[in-house]
Amino acid sequence: MPGAIYAEGLVKTFGDVRALDGVDLDVPEGTVLGLLGPNGAGKTTAVRCLTTLLRPDSGRAVVAGIDVLGQPDAVRRSIGLSGQFAAVDEYLTGRENLQMVGQLYQMRAKQAKARAVELLEQFNLTDAADRPTKTYSGGMRRRLDLAAALVVSPPVMFMDEPTTGLDPRNRQQLWEVIQQLVSGGTTLLLTTQYLEEADHLAHDIAVVDHGKVIAQGTSDELKARTGGERVEVVVHERGHMGTAAEVLRGFGKGDTTVEDHTRRLTVPVTGGAKLLAEVIRELDSRGIEIDDIALRRPTLDDVFLSLTGHVAEEKPEGNGEQGRRKNTRKEAVK
Ligand SMILES: Nc1ncnc2c1ncn2[C@@H]1O[C@H](COP(=O)(O)OP(=O)(O)O)[C@@H](O)[C@H]1O
Ligand SMILES: [Mg+2]
Repeated sequence: MPGAIYAEGLVKTFGDVRALDGVDLDVPEGTVLGLLGPNGAGKTTAVRCLTTLLRPDSGRAVVAGIDVLGQPDAVRRSIGLSGQFAAVDEYLTGRENLQMVGQLYQMRAKQAKARAVELLEQFNLTDAADRPTKTYSGGMRRRLDLAAALVVSPPVMFMDEPTTGLDPRNRQQLWEVIQQLVSGGTTLLLTTQYLEEADHLAHDIAVVDHGKVIAQGTSDELKARTGGERVEVVVHERGHMGTAAEVLRGFGKGDTTVEDHTRRLTVPVTGGAKLLAEVIRELDSRGIEIDDIALRRPTLDDVFLSLTGHVAEEKPEGNGEQGRRKNTRKEAVK
């Protein structure tokens, strides 16, 4: 039986861009799927197709048991959506916006008011509740948008990058709200650029790149494919990179990645801090001076690197960080 969110062969093109290039998804009822991918991967397009805001060129989707293309109105009544295209009225206050959503969903005025108070509290917006939304900061708007999506608890929810732009405290709070929601039985599809977030919230993760699901599994399964933890070393002298690679190979559980121009070597490991200390001792005993060494948890970049052999490409709006990392290559040090 298909899950609460089901998609088969979704394709959506914008001119030359294949934003979705045959996406299949199946999210069992009561679970959370994290759609994980970099900017431009097709996450928002997928959410928009699944929530009836955009018509795919081909493919099929069923949400809450209802055919998305056949009965869009019925789908809309069964889902909640929060995302990059927020439906918040600038001229109403936060409180008024939430009450209005409640009334749209046929709540009684009293019930809508009470729900608004509850959500304002939950999202730290009580102090700003009676100010017009246009005076809100970006983070406040995002929280209000999320609160609006939660006024009623629909059986299926979509959240498009719910925590992008939130500070760590608000992110943590939102994670808690999402966990509460899911423990109440809601099926959730959320998109994110952060492995850590998908890790924290999702039962299953689908990694998307160029409109395709390139890997799917639990967080542990995906991390295992990257080799999990990694030790990252920056050696002081370029001439020591070969020897350093040899040392790392001895401790590594997979291929060593070498970045020539930054003198950075990375190797998947198991063993945590204890192993890190051993690596340092070994490098030291071979007379290799290091500028930096760290134990790193897998990031989205690591997952991408191991799945595709290249790092997640950023749009030009990135800070140049990705440009630096583009030259990373996977060395066949075995
Ligand atoms: N309305 C649109 N018109 C033209 N191109 C679009 C439109 N929406 C998305 N795209 C393109 O489709 C690709 C996927 O975009 P999107 O789904 O927004 O990715 P994500 O949400 O993962 O960042 C990108 O290359 C983007 O530029
Ligand atoms: Mg997006």
